[in-house]
Amino acid sequence: MIGSLFSLARPLIHRLDAETAHRLTIAALAATPALRPGPDDPVLATEAFGLAFPNPVGLAAGFDKHAQAVDGALGLGFGFVEVGGVTPLAQPGNPRPRVFRLPEDEAVINRYGLNSEGMEAVAARLKARRRRGGLVGVNLGANKDSADRAADYAILARHLAPLADFLTVNVSSPNTPGLRDLQAESALDDLIARALAARDEAAQSANRPTPVLLKIAPDLTLPELDGMVAVARKRGIDGMVVSNTTIARPDSLRGDARRETGGLSGRPLFAPSTRLLAETFRRVEGQFPLVGVGGVDSAAAAFAKIRAGASLVQLYSALVFKGPGLVGEIKAGLAQEARQAGVERIGLLTGRDAETIARGETL
Ligand code: FNR
Repeated sequence: MIGSLFSLARPLIHRLDAETAHRLTIAALAATPALRPGPDDPVLATEAFGLAFPNPVGLAAGFDKHAQAVDGALGLGFGFVEVGGVTPLAQPGNPRPRVFRLPEDEAVINRYGLNSEGMEAVAARLKARRRRGGLVGVNLGANKDSADRAADYAILARHLAPLADFLTVNVSSPNTPGLRDLQAESALDDLIARALAARDEAAQSANRPTPVLLKIAPDLTLPELDGMVAVARKRGIDGMVVSNTTIARPDSLRGDARRETGGLSGRPLFAPSTRLLAETFRRVEGQFPLVGVGGVDSAAAAFAKIRAGASLVQLYSALVFKGPGLVGEIKAGLAQEARQAGVERIGLLTGRDAETIARGETL
């Protein structure tokens, strides 16, 4: 039903510039009384970071940056939603236009630059909907003008941990100059230590501390990945999200917007981000779960992420081209894969093909 509505509306939506279309989508989702998706197939139930997910398909960060449409998004059938990136203080981001569709490539390029209404506005919205349930994570980013960016993550963690089911430290957005330097091993070690300490301070004694995940760029070299995983393991991070958008521009791109500056997401990101996921899985050795994101646009793509090492998957760009009916389609396909493999839980297939995918043999 929602899928066929999207098919009708898509030509109109795509005639608008991408940011205006997105704003309208958020407004529509915020205004719709939350649908109640039927209960998920039990084969999709997944546990990760001590949380029970009804299904492993999540909405990636950047779609609902200001937590305006959490219940509308959960109503589409996602097992969890990650809002943000949120910065401590409100900031406008880069001038428009700053997001571009590449329809020929089923890809998006964005250079939003972490536009955020700030953590107070997001905290107030999360507080207001808190009793409605559903798993909601918050993606954390530093202010562009911050004198101490690592401190920003600690401020955000302290403030938002009590209101979130998990937090994601985003040091991998390509659109804030210098942000990705925080991925360097010593800078990252300091940042993670401070963010985790702030998170622990925020945990009321009765509550389990909010899980903190680390989101990485797909453009890392393998030695850089070694360093990041080493820090994550040493500091006791609860999980990693692989990956953010890429600054690479594959030769295959055809869309007019391919030379725009920014992070590329969608189908061309699928192969590199899935390989990096498999490489991460090999290095983590089961110490914590991984979230696979980048170019998930079908059940087969979601299943490949799981085989590469993901316990959970997320998507964003494919919604632009395929619409919200995709969520149900992916869930049905994953349930079928689990049954065909003869497992009781989809999560039992996590990492099954990590070695071959890391070698670039199968996807
Ligand atoms: C993003 N993404 C993102 N990631 C993040 O950690 N913080 C953010 O604020 C944003 N903002 C954002 C805006 C836009 C317009 C897009 C398209 C993407 C990255 C996103 O969460 C995801 O990692 C990538 O888009 C790859 O997934 P898809 O889009 O290929 O499914």
